[in-house]
Amino acid sequence: MTVANDRQQAGQTKAVSGETLVEVNDLKKHFPIKGGVLKRTVGHVKAVDGVTFSVYKGETLGIVGESGSGKSTLGRMIMRLLEPSEGSIEFDGEDITTLSQRQIRPMRKNLQMIFQDPYASLNPRMSVGEIIEEPMVVQDMFTKEERQERVIDLLKRVGLGAEARTKYPHEFSGGQRQRIGIARALSTRPQMIIGDEPVSALDVSVQSQVLNLMEDLQEEYNLTYIFIAHDLSVVKHISDRVGVMYLGKLAEIAPKDSLYDKPLHPYTQALISAVPSTNIEEVKERQVLEGDLPSPSNPPSGCPFHTRCPEAHERCKEKTPLLTDMGDGHYVACHLYTEPGENES
Ligand SMILES: Nc1ncnc2c1ncn2[C@@H]1O[C@H](COP(=O)(O)OP(=O)(O)OP(=O)(O)O)[C@@H](O)[C@H]1O
Ligand SMILES: [Mg+2]
Repeated sequence: MTVANDRQQAGQTKAVSGETLVEVNDLKKHFPIKGGVLKRTVGHVKAVDGVTFSVYKGETLGIVGESGSGKSTLGRMIMRLLEPSEGSIEFDGEDITTLSQRQIRPMRKNLQMIFQDPYASLNPRMSVGEIIEEPMVVQDMFTKEERQERVIDLLKRVGLGAEARTKYPHEFSGGQRQRIGIARALSTRPQMIIGDEPVSALDVSVQSQVLNLMEDLQEEYNLTYIFIAHDLSVVKHISDRVGVMYLGKLAEIAPKDSLYDKPLHPYTQALISAVPSTNIEEVKERQVLEGDLPSPSNPPSGCPFHTRCPEAHERCKEKTPLLTDMGDGHYVACHLYTEPGENES
């Protein structure tokens, strides 16, 4: 309580505790590429390639990056829907990296996910009531009557009436379906929700309604969010901190204001200059990223961004920069900010 009060006095309105809920350490997922008639492993897609960060209780951590940068793979590993290749994941002080699916099940009630495509992620043959009740049944939570009451309360809370429970997903719009997905995720009283591009498929006007709902629910239920998006403008409002991914690695991670006002990594700078602006001066300065995202099955040597970086020099081709603490929670992986031999591999 005192921590929350201190934070409020320091100008923060949200109760971010400073206590760690998730700790991800050097996490990797390398998918094998099979080739030839013998289906031997001929290479690996380095979807996530050594990612380290923490998530604090009560905060929203935004994760952004181009398509294929490894955002969904990262989220699915934290949910333990995917087995990590290397590294570790701690949730609320417990190492969950190698728990079996049976051991992981009780933890699932604390950690829920909502997906990009509300059309695909809801079972079309189940009524909305059954969809929202299912996670509670799987977790053996509450009595039948209590579950029914919770379904109605949750439907009301996400802005759909109680009568929605007897309907089916196809009877709802995209935004309404995402509300159903949110009610389902909330049903087990989770501590944390990972949203994998939860508003990307929605119209812009509907996006902000769903984002506002998620913010209200966060405050009400003291939720911690990881919010994955392509677009820096989507996460700007909702995030406390933002991490930028490039080819399976974190290029930069920082408190929101620091990242948007003083981006350090040339990749982040390019992404920020690409956010649409009505300011003519800013538009003139827009940097265009040249070239395509290299393949994660054959990433460039050294810094993965060096092939597209306007600041690249010799060292960037040879050595991989590691995340470096620049103070005030701002971390960047870029040789511009360290001496040769310092924080590289
Ligand atoms: N099951 C899999 N088997 C092999 N490769 C995979 C698998 N899942 C993902 N990949 C590859 O891993 C890389 C990262 O994929 P991922 O879906 O995590 O990216 P993303 O950042 O979420 O992209 P998007 O923005 O398009 O959702 C991509 O090259 C993808 O093709
Ligand atoms: Mg994805």
